[in-house]
Amino acid sequence: MSVVFIDLVSSTALAGSLDPEALRVTMDRYYTACTTAVADHGGVVEKFIGDAVMAVFGAFRSHEDDALRAVRAACALVDALEGLNADLERGFGLRLDVHSGIATGEAVVVGDAGGGARVVGDVVHTAARLQSHAAAHEILIDDDTARLVGAWVRLEGLAPLSLKGKPGPVTAWRAVEVLPGPAREDTVALIGREAELEQLRRAYARVRRDRTCALVTVVGTAGIGKSRLLREFLANPAAAGASVLRGTCRAYGAGLTYWPVADAVWSLPGGWEEAAGVLTADRPDGRRAVDALAAALDLATGAGRPVSVAEIAWAFRCLVEALGRRGPLIVVLEDFHWAEPTLLDLVQDVAEGVTDAEVLLLCAARPDMPGSRSAWAGGSGHAAAVVELGPLTDGQTRELVRLTAERAEVSAQSMTLTDEALDRIVGECDGNPLFAELLLERPVGDVPAPGLPASIRVLLAAWLDRLPATDREVLERAAAVGCDFTAEDVRVLAGDAPALAGDVLDASLRRLLRSRAVHPSGPPGAYRFSRPLARDTVYEMTSKARRATWHTLLADRLADRAGGGRHAGTAGSAGSAADGDLAHHLESACRLLGEVHPGDPRLPDLTGRAAHALVSTGYRALRRRDLPAAVSLLERGRDLVAPGDPEHRVLAIRISDAHAGLGLWDRARAAVGEAERRSAGDPRTRRTCTIQRQLVDLRSGLPVPPPDALARDVRSDPDDDLSWCRFHQLASLRSFADGRIGAAESAVRDALLRARAAGDGYEEDRLLASVCELTQWSPTPVSEGIALCGELAARFDTDRSLLVPVLLTRARLQALAGLLGEARDGLEQARRHAADLQLTLGAVAADQAAGLVASLSGDHADALRHYGTAADRLHGLGRGTTAATLRIYAARELLRAGDTASCAAALRALDPARLETRGRLVLLALRARLGATGAWPGDPVAAAEEAAALLGSTDDPVLTGDVRFETARALDACGMRDRARLAAREALASFTAKGAELPCRDVRSWLAARGGTP
Ligand SMILES: Nc1ncnc2c1ncn2[C@@H]1O[C@H](COP(=O)(O)OP(=O)(O)O)[C@@H](O)[C@H]1O
Ligand SMILES: [Mg+2]
Repeated sequence: MSVVFIDLVSSTALAGSLDPEALRVTMDRYYTACTTAVADHGGVVEKFIGDAVMAVFGAFRSHEDDALRAVRAACALVDALEGLNADLERGFGLRLDVHSGIATGEAVVVGDAGGGARVVGDVVHTAARLQSHAAAHEILIDDDTARLVGAWVRLEGLAPLSLKGKPGPVTAWRAVEVLPGPAREDTVALIGREAELEQLRRAYARVRRDRTCALVTVVGTAGIGKSRLLREFLANPAAAGASVLRGTCRAYGAGLTYWPVADAVWSLPGGWEEAAGVLTADRPDGRRAVDALAAALDLATGAGRPVSVAEIAWAFRCLVEALGRRGPLIVVLEDFHWAEPTLLDLVQDVAEGVTDAEVLLLCAARPDMPGSRSAWAGGSGHAAAVVELGPLTDGQTRELVRLTAERAEVSAQSMTLTDEALDRIVGECDGNPLFAELLLERPVGDVPAPGLPASIRVLLAAWLDRLPATDREVLERAAAVGCDFTAEDVRVLAGDAPALAGDVLDASLRRLLRSRAVHPSGPPGAYRFSRPLARDTVYEMTSKARRATWHTLLADRLADRAGGGRHAGTAGSAGSAADGDLAHHLESACRLLGEVHPGDPRLPDLTGRAAHALVSTGYRALRRRDLPAAVSLLERGRDLVAPGDPEHRVLAIRISDAHAGLGLWDRARAAVGEAERRSAGDPRTRRTCTIQRQLVDLRSGLPVPPPDALARDVRSDPDDDLSWCRFHQLASLRSFADGRIGAAESAVRDALLRARAAGDGYEEDRLLASVCELTQWSPTPVSEGIALCGELAARFDTDRSLLVPVLLTRARLQALAGLLGEARDGLEQARRHAADLQLTLGAVAADQAAGLVASLSGDHADALRHYGTAADRLHGLGRGTTAATLRIYAARELLRAGDTASCAAALRALDPARLETRGRLVLLALRARLGATGAWPGDPVAAAEEAAALLGSTDDPVLTGDVRFETARALDACGMRDRARLAAREALASFTAKGAELPCRDVRSWLAARGGTP
């Protein structure tokens, strides 16, 4: 908390020379001015002591910048009194002069904000004593305040003061002026770009008119003016009144998928608290969204369980939507070419998912987006547009150069630009404004060798060379920290540099602020490089050995902090992803040290730490199901793990699975090969790798050899939990492909035991989800399946991508058991979650389950509709075979509704060559039934017999029951009463074993109607 004392200089003189009436009016105005200045800056007037005012900042609600607010308030009062003094001087020839003292520290607050509160503590005395030492107009501040406001306020040092009640001399400072705030002023007016601005304005107008969400990507090379265009648009009256969220993507780091999201959330005026408030205000499920967003920002929440990428995307979309419903919202994402693939998905998700809100998403990207990201700028999604920024014309460039040179003259940088020099710069800069700026900053007479084209990097390097040595020392350390850094970070890295001791560092930062090399960003003491390219250039020009040392120091500091208040003392969003920061610094330290001193004795330890940090950050990404980030981090970690380390086979599996999850089968196989190479000769690694390779082959549809040899090998090492776990999964996949669902389920249960033995919670979750899904088709009784679903629904409550399949499985099982009401409720929930998370396959599965529930309820028209929708969607996703099965189910609903002709027509439209076993079985049963009524050519009995034979290839009791019951009816219609009854009784046995009560009832009543006993 900061305490401010303000008093009038020689107020007794004032009292003696003024008429009492005038004195009262004057003092009223003085008190009002004091109260206003304090309140305007978020402080509270604690009390008036005669003419003195004591105010506190941060007593009831602390802000990171309380000290700065206190200084601003004191400065504001001095300014405000100028108006009052003008009147006084005119009327009475008098002035009111104040002097103030400010101190910052701990204090005790007695009472409450409502009134009558008192602040007690040493800090109060210090502020009072400083005030009494201050001359007229002077604001004296203590050392703690100075440290907090350093970069924002011009300070002058004083000789140490001896203050009453203080044992030794006290360091104090004079606060001279508050420096311009964080907004980086553009030095020249915008040149050109009318058309591009107009495009942005039009997009925004449409967003407002249609109450919709639009995505615009501004694309152009570095320095061409993307950020400037966006700034200009935001400052434009058209965009006035919009709330703005801003995030910046970073080129370096580890595990930073959500850095820009965190950045954006913290850019709200009320930061995280405002975001959380907005989310919980409008939505019943706001709490869930708050937890998910907190996870993305790395804020501790009660939940503890990992939150998936889908959940985070949903939460951010909720926030954007909620803000965009209150009023127009503009979300700016800078340097989007560095966005992680998962962030691209998130933005797409927001663009397509936000409804009934005014939201404009603006991304700025260079055209050379790396790898898979290159597809982005080409325009993705329905509402996406691209604004291309090309070079300025020669005329515009000339204007820009002229204006910039003029401005430089005004700020006395001695710039005289001859026509010839102007021509040369215009010719040289290719219409790139940043290039032009840098060419202008080049000292006069510094003419580059002809034929050697200067590049932006070369110019930035020259700029760096011209800086005073201390400024360069500061920037080099700052660049090692990153684009965002704090004075404290630099101080930590300056321990070895006596030249940067004491105020030299602060003075240098102030110089850098004034020259706009950096600008304040967030709370006092936090800065950002104004030109990201400058940061990169500084970084690259710093010696590798020094960078290695600094990265190590930063890593050590992060490691020390871990556990004990990881976010303490860090700036806003800089607190997030501390684990990733640790990994980044260790990895960089290793790489750099390895390049300059490959034999350095510190290297092995550093490498081990870096590997560990990367791998654990990678596992964290994996648990979130951020697969692209997981792959990148785990592969980087793996490359640092020593050859022969047993960790290699675990990593191989994780990396391989993640690639497989992205459908990148070749890379999934390559990851296995890496482990084999790095742990050659280790029998367990070889075994695990063989199994994993077969798993990948099987999943990607390739043939695999018979299991015997592999099984022998696995049995030779009963304690190799990892190999066993994977081997059981392989067995499960094989059984499932063969239609033996019971065997598939029990193999997964075996795998589960091994995963538990190995303490692998991530694998355990995946296997549990898989067991659960298998209970829909396996012989496991419905009641057992429902119980398992209940357990898992609780376990996966925070992770709805896992929860949705569980809810759907339960709904199907409940419907089979005759619990139709519960089944419908569960379906509804699952649908909502799938829609929230935009789970395409989840939505299809929900349609399919809805078809079953409707059919069991006897609503065949509804069932037909659901199966039809699911089939269409699957077809659209390129899953034709599964779609065909659902079309057959849909046809069955037509028959059940009594529409034989339509059923036959639907079946005729199918391609019978590409069918799964279950589809083929139902098709045969339907042909038998249609054949029996003459609606299908061919022998119905032969079709029924073919179906019965094919049933031998599956142990799915519900499918078996369904097919047998259909054939029973077909045979009955053909007059083969006894065979029909036999088939029906077999159907009944099948349904009964599963506990499928509802189908059982149908069969029983069918049998009863035919005078048979069930
Ligand atoms: N059209 C313009 N008129 C005036 N100054 C410009 C213009 N475009 C860019 N600038 C200036 O050029 C510099 C680089 O532009 P910036 O927007 O940072 O580039 P980018 O974001 O594309 O890398 C900034 O100082 C910016 O103010
Ligand atoms: Mg930019």
